[in-house]
Amino acid sequence: MHTDFPAPARLIVTGARGLLGREILRLAPDAAGYGRAELDITDRAAVDAVITPGAVLINCAAYTAVDDAESDRDAAFAANATGPAVLAAACAAAGARLIHVSTDYVFPGTADTPYEPGDPTGPATVYGQSKLAGEQAVLELGAQVVRTAWVYSGVEGDFVATMRRLEAERDTVTVVDDQVGSPTSAADLAAALLELSTRPDAPRVLHATNSGTATWFDLAVAVFTELGADPARVLPCDSSAFPRPAPRPPYSVLSPAAWNAAGLAPLRPWRSALADALQRVSD
Ligand SMILES: NC(=O)c1ccc[n+]([C@@H]2O[C@H](COP(=O)([O-])OP(=O)(O)OC[C@H]3O[C@@H](n4cnc5c(N)ncnc54)[C@H](OP(=O)(O)O)[C@@H]3O)[C@@H](O)[C@H]2O)c1
Repeated sequence: MHTDFPAPARLIVTGARGLLGREILRLAPDAAGYGRAELDITDRAAVDAVITPGAVLINCAAYTAVDDAESDRDAAFAANATGPAVLAAACAAAGARLIHVSTDYVFPGTADTPYEPGDPTGPATVYGQSKLAGEQAVLELGAQVVRTAWVYSGVEGDFVATMRRLEAERDTVTVVDDQVGSPTSAADLAAALLELSTRPDAPRVLHATNSGTATWFDLAVAVFTELGADPARVLPCDSSAFPRPAPRPPYSVLSPAAWNAAGLAPLRPWRSALADALQRVSD
């Protein structure tokens, strides 16, 4: 992982109190970070007031409640489509650059080889549809889009944090073993986005996840192993055991080929990133 990249003139982070935004601010404490309370990305006047010429804005703001989005379409589209469109228009008007974070959910999730950036999209959920609309809006205005997947920091509420908690609370946990993705450390993704912030020449749509693949069951086993717990306490099951309003993609692997070909630092294997993340949260 590169850590010695030059900082852009001014870095702005929206959605800065979320999982990913917090990690970017941790690695780039001089950035101007705005949580939702300080800056609603759908408010054009408020957005105009914080964007300066030459700045790089990394948008981490989003409606990420995948199940709730199925019955809350307007809110999902406001944050995931209207908001990014506002940011892109404001950046274009001010002479700033927008890096917009998106998701594997723009794909149908039914492939069996990694998705390339140019592969056909086809979201199966309202969340994915809203994120795709956001991508299309910002790309029309010259922004860059970075799709990621399966992001965790291990601190609160995400899958890794939940497995840490359940390891302490329960004898066994049952975890789905029929969805495949690339677990991605928010810290590694944050560093990757900071590197990209220095590379306006990079392609318009890129994928960034830690490398390698796992099921949620594999990830839970790895968490237990890292914690020194017996991994046999993690039991596999099918997705049918946990029916949800929004269908989960069976296959969410995003190809790193375009990222790596652009000369950006390859993201490391997910297993070593997990070990570091758990070490950090237990310190
Ligand atoms: N986490 C993952 O596994 C994952 C996977 C693939 C892609 N992504 C993408 O990565 C990006 C960051 O996700 P994350 O995991 O950091 O999500 P997160 O923890 O839910 O953070 C998103 C933040 O955006 C804020 N927000 C929502 N609407 C807003 C608005 N209108 N104006 C300003 N802020 C607003 C939220 O505030 P409130 O909480 O107050 O609403 C929240 O703090 C998103 O684009 C997401 O789609 C995440």
